Amino acid sequence: MAFPKHSILQALSVLLLAWVLVRCQALVKPEEEEEEEPTKEVDVAIAVTKSEPIKCPPDCSCTAEGVIDCAGVDLTEFPADLSDKTRQLSLQNNKIEEITVEHISHLHQLETFNLQNNWLTTDGLEDEGFEMLEHLAYLYLANNKLTYAPKVLPPSLVSADFAANQLTRIYPYTFGHKPKLRSVYLHNNKLTDAGLPDNMFNASDNLEILTMSSNFLRVVPKNLPSTLYRLHLKNNKLEKIPAGAFDNLSNLRELYLQNNLLSNEGMNNETFSHLSSLECLDLSNNNLSIVPKGLPRNLVLLHMEKNSIQSIPGDALTSVRNLEYLLLHNNKLRSRSIHPAAFQGLKKLHTLHMYNNLLERVPRGLPRRAKTLMLLHNSISEIGRNDLALLYTLTELNLSYNKLTSSKMHREAFRKLRVLKTLDLSGNGLYTLPLGLPRSLQVLEVKNNQLNSIPDGALTGMEKLQKLILSDNQLKLNSIYQGAWMELSALTTLDLSGNQLSHIPSDLPESLEYLYLQSNRISSVPASAFEGTPNIKGIFLRSSRASAELMMGLPLSSESSFCAAPPGWMMETMMIPTITATKVVHR
Ligand SMILES: *[C@@H]1O[C@H](CO)[C@@H](O)[C@H](O)[C@H]1NC(C)=O
Ligand SMILES: *[C@@H]1O[C@H](CO)[C@@H](O)[C@H](O)[C@H]1NC(C)=O
Ligand SMILES: *[C@@H]1O[C@H](CO)[C@@H](O)[C@H](O)[C@H]1NC(C)=O
Ligand SMILES: *[C@@H]1O[C@H](CO)[C@@H](O)[C@H](O)[C@H]1NC(C)=O
Ligand SMILES: *[C@@H]1O[C@H](CO)[C@@H](O)[C@H](O)[C@H]1NC(C)=O
Repeated sequence: MAFPKHSILQALSVLLLAWVLVRCQALVKPEEEEEEEPTKEVDVAIAVTKSEPIKCPPDCSCTAEGVIDCAGVDLTEFPADLSDKTRQLSLQNNKIEEITVEHISHLHQLETFNLQNNWLTTDGLEDEGFEMLEHLAYLYLANNKLTYAPKVLPPSLVSADFAANQLTRIYPYTFGHKPKLRSVYLHNNKLTDAGLPDNMFNASDNLEILTMSSNFLRVVPKNLPSTLYRLHLKNNKLEKIPAGAFDNLSNLRELYLQNNLLSNEGMNNETFSHLSSLECLDLSNNNLSIVPKGLPRNLVLLHMEKNSIQSIPGDALTSVRNLEYLLLHNNKLRSRSIHPAAFQGLKKLHTLHMYNNLLERVPRGLPRRAKTLMLLHNSISEIGRNDLALLYTLTELNLSYNKLTSSKMHREAFRKLRVLKTLDLSGNGLYTLPLGLPRSLQVLEVKNNQLNSIPDGALTGMEKLQKLILSDNQLKLNSIYQGAWMELSALTTLDLSGNQLSHIPSDLPESLEYLYLQSNRISSVPASAFEGTPNIKGIFLRSSRASAELMMGLPLSSESSFCAAPPGWMMETMMIPTITATKVVHR
């Protein structure tokens, strides 16, 4: 089965992005943008009342007293003789290699100091100078070449950004003893456990955001302040979380631990249990084999994609009553190792992703309020009468690329899915379109099966169906019951490409706008073929059969072949305003 798994996963990521960004920041943002939010310049409105002229270094702009902007002007040296009234100094995007005590020690009023994206090394930065900046609140040093953090930063500090350096060492007074400190960005460095002081935030009791992703940590740092709200530790080498590491973080709302080496042995049933404010927990891409116990009760989103999860115990999730999103795709779950009571009581859980697992059946006891159920790419080979019977609120069910056959699909299996809008059964082994599909369906995809019949009544009553995809099957006209299409009064898209049709179907509904018939055995189109479909906008007839060049007696040149679209062509370009059957081209 040649199937583009990657594109599926990409499509899903895009979907995920939409909602995850609302809930949990930076869960699936691209690496470059990750966690990179500190550099909002604080726009302090400064009243320009003084009449004395502003001293401004060459090439820089100084719009108000105390505000000096030298960003991106190719400076190789720190500007000389800056006014000691300077409050905001922007030197970002230059090539500055050296800053001495003399350069900065007189800037007692400096509040915002932006040095990001320069060529600063630890040797070139005389960090004693920082101690004297007694009003310094915002320090931006991201994207330099520092190997050690400054030994001492002033107690006035509010936010510090050292991302994307080569830091291996932090000192006790780098971030310790800073009562106003709220955010520290250290992602993309080379920090190891040994490079951190014992109590990195000693007496810095207001820290809310800490990012240490993409370093070389093996252990979660100890003694993190209890004010912490968001903690990023992804892309490290974390193997275990020491007992009690998160015990004091009762304000933590978002915890990112993805892309580490965490296993169930590296945590216990109380590792997360004290995180009483935690809403987003990302454990994806680790080495978990079961869903951990003791998850905090206010969790809304739990992401565990790409582990080796084989089982969900009965009591792992039941306490997480606010859970809305549960992402378990790309694991090794089998139906029988999901405890039937695992989802009990999860009344808010509406999105459950279990694609790319080893499920042989629809798991028992699925959450009753589920709206979206992604079960594609498993090994589900049968659907019993009651497998779906409790999913009253389900609107989207994706069972594509499983091992379903017609004989093992109970004809009443779908009877309770009264609000189902989207059903995907593509890529299975069905040879006949199932009977008893919900009449609420708006989208039905059954491509890539072995359908050779649409039995009488299979599409009856589907008045809401807008899109029906039956491509790549073995359908012939006489295996489709008479009047099948006619009843579909809302249908706008019908894809029958890649079948064995010998003629254009005659009983198409009036609502139809797009009809795909390429790669069939159609060799002529009667003049009356589209008389009943006044709304048609695109007809796709290109065939793989090279010989079929003729059209109803009127041989047309390829220039007029506006309906024969190459695969992937945008449909909008194929408007057929006043179609007469003679213009439909078949190549
Ligand atoms: C089923 O999921 C796959 C993978 O995300 C997607 O490409 C397909 O469009 C889905 N089916 C429907 C009908 O949405
Ligand atoms: C934290 O700071 C206090 C002083 O405020 C000091 O006595 C103590 O030793 C420090 N603790 C650690 C672990 O560094
Ligand atoms: C949690 O806080 C208590 C009291 O402040 C302290 O003794 C303990 O070491 C802290 N635990 C951790 C893991 O930071
Ligand atoms: C964790 O397990 C121990 C026994 O192994 C038990 O005593 C304790 O209550 C459990 N804690 C939680 C939060 O479930
Ligand atoms: C994953 O965890 C298992 C134990 O559960 C261990 O044997 C294995 O070495 C771990 N793999 C990695 C890459 O850490």
